[in-house]
Amino acid sequence: MKLSGPFKQIIPLNNLPLKGKLNDDFLEIITNGGILSENGIIKQVGDFDSLKQQFPDSEIDFIDNEQIALPAFVDAHTHICFGGNRANDFAMRNAGKTYLEIAESGGGIWSSVQHTREASEEKLIEGILKRVDILLKQGVTTIEIKSGYGLSVQEELKMLRAIKKAQAETKATLIPTCLSAHLKPRDFEGSSVDYLSYIIDEILPKVKEESLADRVDIFIEKSAFQPEESKNFLLKAKELGFQITVHADQFTSGSSRIAVEVGAKSADHLEATIDEDIDFLAHSNTVAIALPGASLGLGEPFSPARKILDKGGILAIATDWNPGSAPMGSLITQASILATYQKLTTAEVLAAITFRAAFALDLEDRGILAKGKKANFITYETDNFQNILYKQGSLKPSKVYINGKSIL
Ligand code: NIG
Ligand code: FE
Repeated sequence: MKLSGPFKQIIPLNNLPLKGKLNDDFLEIITNGGILSENGIIKQVGDFDSLKQQFPDSEIDFIDNEQIALPAFVDAHTHICFGGNRANDFAMRNAGKTYLEIAESGGGIWSSVQHTREASEEKLIEGILKRVDILLKQGVTTIEIKSGYGLSVQEELKMLRAIKKAQAETKATLIPTCLSAHLKPRDFEGSSVDYLSYIIDEILPKVKEESLADRVDIFIEKSAFQPEESKNFLLKAKELGFQITVHADQFTSGSSRIAVEVGAKSADHLEATIDEDIDFLAHSNTVAIALPGASLGLGEPFSPARKILDKGGILAIATDWNPGSAPMGSLITQASILATYQKLTTAEVLAAITFRAAFALDLEDRGILAKGKKANFITYETDNFQNILYKQGSLKPSKVYINGKSIL
C-alpha cells in the first residue's frame, strides 16, 4: 500500500450530484490530506496522520512543499489524430472570409482529410502521442479521440488503428470514437444517405471486428448531415451495439433533440441550442459537452452552460482539439474562460472536467478521489485550489499520477 501526502488540500469531488448546478460550498476540502492506494486503486482518502497511524506498513510517497491534490482531468472530445495544419484557415477567417469561401479555396475539414490520408499510420501515431503528452502535462489523463479525417473504410481504419497503437505507447487512457460521419467525402459517389449506409455496412462491422471503437459520432449540421438521415444512422449504429455521441447545434439548432431522442451519451457543441431544447436536454441523461475551444477558435458564442446547469442538466467541458476550429488544446484555459463568460462556479468547472466528463465516456471508475476509484490524481504547488482556474491555465500540475504512480 502506498500513502501519498501530506497535501495542504485534497479536493476529492466526492458525493456531488451528477446533474445540475453546484455551489462551491458543496466541495469537501480535506486539509493535511493523504491518499492511500493499492495496485492503482484508491483505498482511502483522509487525514494524512491518521492514515499513517492506521496503516503503519504503507510505503510513504512523501510530498514536500505545499501541494494540493485533486482528480486527474478527462477530455471527452478531441480530434487529435490528424495530418497537416490549418493555420491558413484561421488567418483567412480573421481576415473576413466565410466558411464556404475557405472550403472553396482548399481549406476546411476536407483539407485535413487530404493531409490525414497522406500521412502514414506511424506519422499519425507520432502526432497523437505528441498531443497526448501536451494534455498529460496539463493533468488530463483520459482522452477521447475521434476518427473522421479518413472518410473511407481504409482511411478510417488507419486512423482508428493509429489510436489503438498509440494506446500501447502511453499511460493515458485513450477512448476512440468512430466519426466517419463527419462529412460526406468529395470523392464518394452517391448521396449522403448512401454514404451513411456505407458507414453502417462497410466501416462499422470492421470497427467491431478489430475492436477499434465502441462509440459512434456524427456531425449533424446544414453543411454535413441532415436531421432525419442522421437519426436513422444513429439508431442503426446503436443497434450494432455502439454508444452514441453527436456534434450537435454548432451553428443551427435542432440536433441536440435528436441526440436525446436516440439516447446519446453526449451532445457536444450546443453553441446554437434554443431554450426549449436546453430544457429537453437538461431533463435527460445525455451529457451536454461545451467546447469553448471551438468558440474561441471560430469567434462563435459560448455554449449556454449556465442555463444547462440551472435547468438541471449534466455539463462537461472538453477541448475539441482539432486542426480547424479548435487548435489550442488547453483544457484549463478554455474551461476557466468559459467560467468567466458563463458564470460557472469552481465546483461546476471541476465537475465538468472530471467525473461528469467521465460519465459521458461511460467511465465511472475515475474523476473522483474515493475508495474503489482509480488512483488518477494531480498535484499543484499552491495552497488553494481556487488558484487553478484563477490562473487560467498558467498554473501547471507538478505531478500527475496514473494508477497510483507519478508519470511526470
Ligand atoms: O468539432 N464540427 C465539426 N467538427 C469539428 C471541426 C473539425 C474541423 O474543422 O476539422 C468540430 O469543431
Ligand atoms: Fe469536434
